Amino acid sequence: MDDPNVRLDGLAAAVTGAGRGLGRAHALALAEGGARLVVADLHGAEETAAEIRARGGTARAVGGDAAADGAGERLLAAAEEHYGRLDVLVNNAGVVRDRMLFNMDEADWDAVVRTHLRGHFLASRAAAAHWRARSKRAGGPVHGRVVNTASEAFLLGSPGQPNYAAAKGGIAALTTATAQALRRYGATANAICPRARTAMTAGVFGPPPQDGPDPLAPERVSPLVAYLASPAAAHVTGQVFVVHGGVIGVLKPPELGPVLRSPGGWTGPGEVARALDGADLPPHGFTAPEVASLA
Ligand SMILES: NC(=O)c1ccc[n+]([C@@H]2O[C@H](COP(=O)([O-])OP(=O)(O)OC[C@H]3O[C@@H](n4cnc5c(N)ncnc54)[C@H](O)[C@@H]3O)[C@@H](O)[C@H]2O)c1
Repeated sequence: MDDPNVRLDGLAAAVTGAGRGLGRAHALALAEGGARLVVADLHGAEETAAEIRARGGTARAVGGDAAADGAGERLLAAAEEHYGRLDVLVNNAGVVRDRMLFNMDEADWDAVVRTHLRGHFLASRAAAAHWRARSKRAGGPVHGRVVNTASEAFLLGSPGQPNYAAAKGGIAALTTATAQALRRYGATANAICPRARTAMTAGVFGPPPQDGPDPLAPERVSPLVAYLASPAAAHVTGQVFVVHGGVIGVLKPPELGPVLRSPGGWTGPGEVARALDGADLPPHGFTAPEVASLA
């Protein structure tokens, strides 16, 4: 039997982009753990909420654009109206508009950065303000959990996705800033870099295997999300995980490499060239190509 500390009974959780794909799987997993759900999406939120209710859970649907002004407050208001609180926020809504940098227009850049980064920011701000106020009222820590959705794209420097990689790198940075801000209220923030067979990745991963379980099913990612949402993960914060199939990789934080010094302060590019000549630079730059071969 599972540790009772991973149960979510009595908690209220909101998942964005939960009409299908990974968000739907997360919402079902959180409901299975006992949480009451706010299911948010531009499309399909009502269907997922109905599915949760059909399985005996509690869920309300919220429509609308996750990156529009007021979206975070609308999510929080739905949780407060129906459940009196918000305890868990899973930021997951997202889109792709893949183009090489030299072919990318402003609309493709803006749509992706806006949906992912602004969407994550708006809901996180509303949740953080809610937990701060609750913690002040209670005079102690509260159960607050943010699970953000980054991507391996930002670890690999995907050349066909400069907008997406930049948005996801921004989400990793937003996650560590959120974790630091929430620490004093007992709340946490972590990010996942998932891999799953969904509508978004249909052209990448193709159809599921004909026989046997699908190792890239979205449901393989959701157990980590449900764990991070739970009391058992109170000590886990500011982390970035790679997760899919039967693998969870924990990212090390960026480390300082070689440090070059000029005792009197740098005076010109020639001096920098002499110092950098022969320095042990990371062969792949600021990327982590080894995550691509995780299976
Ligand atoms: N599938 C993967 O392998 C993979 C890999 C890395 C990261 N991700 C990330 O996981 C998340 C979920 O992706 P998925 O694969 O389930 O994709 P998906 O396309 O199946 O689902 C995305 C959902 O987000 C919703 N959405 C999009 N824009 C929205 C907006 N502005 N407001 C509200 N809802 C919106 C869509 O309606 C859709 O239901 C995304 O953030 C994606 O970038 C997925």
